[in-house]
Amino acid sequence: MPHIAVKKVQLPDFPIRRGEFEYLWSAKAFNSKEQLIAVRYKEFLFLLEIKPKKDYCIIKADKVTRPAPTFIVKEALSNFCEALRCERLYDNLSQMKSSHIQKAREFLKGIDYFIHNFPKDKEVCIEIGFGSGRHLLYQAKNNPNTLFIGIEVHKPSIEQLLGQIALQKLNNILVVDYDARLFMEFVPSNIVGKIFVHFPVPWDKKPHRRVICKPFVQEAKRVLKPTGVLELRTDSKNYFDYALDVFLDEKKVELEVSKNIALPVSSKYEDRWVRLGKDIYDIRFKNLEKSEELILEGDFSFQGGVQIERLIELIGQTKVYEDFFIHFQKLYSIDKDRNLVELSFGSFDRPEHKYLLVDADTVRYFPKPPIPSRANKKAHIKIKELCNV
Ligand SMILES: C[S@@+](CC[C@H](N)C(=O)[O-])C[C@H]1O[C@@H](n2cnc3c(N)ncnc32)[C@H](O)[C@@H]1O
Repeated sequence: MPHIAVKKVQLPDFPIRRGEFEYLWSAKAFNSKEQLIAVRYKEFLFLLEIKPKKDYCIIKADKVTRPAPTFIVKEALSNFCEALRCERLYDNLSQMKSSHIQKAREFLKGIDYFIHNFPKDKEVCIEIGFGSGRHLLYQAKNNPNTLFIGIEVHKPSIEQLLGQIALQKLNNILVVDYDARLFMEFVPSNIVGKIFVHFPVPWDKKPHRRVICKPFVQEAKRVLKPTGVLELRTDSKNYFDYALDVFLDEKKVELEVSKNIALPVSSKYEDRWVRLGKDIYDIRFKNLEKSEELILEGDFSFQGGVQIERLIELIGQTKVYEDFFIHFQKLYSIDKDRNLVELSFGSFDRPEHKYLLVDADTVRYFPKPPIPSRANKKAHIKIKELCNV
């Protein structure tokens, strides 16, 4: 993560501008010496964080609002230190990833990209938990007219795949670092030809963490075209039995079960299991009907405002509900009329991290509203309720 260590930071009167970067205001934490600086660069709005140490300060991007690509953060840090004439002790700004991985970063998309611009001009296939990426790369190479979306939560696997995309000069893979179960909520209906779920973690002791679960299968069925197929491949008989039950709960589907069939490409996991003489089970879950169109909307406004005293009382508290939570984390003061509240909320698997910018008349999420997931919508309604009792 890019950062600069400086001797000390003497904050100026905001706003200040340097090049294309505008530094808007600073916010001071209530119970520590940390400060946040709001930065605007083109369409990006984010925060830098100043962390005082014993006899120096570290300046870096705040995790919640950090923009991608990283060069924006590096430039924002450099420009800030130059504008304030800080004495630099050290930094890591020149350590760059190798150029082919940098280049492939254009294929790594955030969830916002899919919410607002879900690509629809080509046949779409999705691979969930691609691991080493061997199967995904094989499919993309052999089906150049299909767009493959690879979903993974393991960052080294994502880096490895991005490197391979660049080396093999592929242009039909998009990668997203997101929980597959939540990602499916944002995929338009009836557009996906295939969903591959190969060797998912069986989670025998924590079944609630399994990718295959009723809500996931319902969303998968919705996004599959009529005759589109979800392909599950597993070495776990237990997972196979469990998944078959979940699949059989759906109406209007066709199921095909096989054992120990070879695919044209095998994954690293598969090679290992085959070497150990394990059985491999497949279920092909075919959707047979058209689903209703997806309507993605969410009202994240705070009409009527919030009671700031009540919001301050909630700092440090966590409220847990059946399928979402809210944690009121930290309070910052910008000036006598404006406060910033850090909070996390939404689904347990993929919490949303945001700030609330509260001034004399208005309240809004900073830097932008949450993504319109079901859990976030419920959490927002609750946040309003909690801040107004
Ligand atoms: C056992 S590995 C299998 C990898 C690959 N499919 C193969 O066959 O070699 C399971 C992969 O799923 C990923 N994974 C687990 N849960 C996930 C989730 N909810 N969303 C996306 N990826 C997930 C893990 O990070 C891991 O890379």
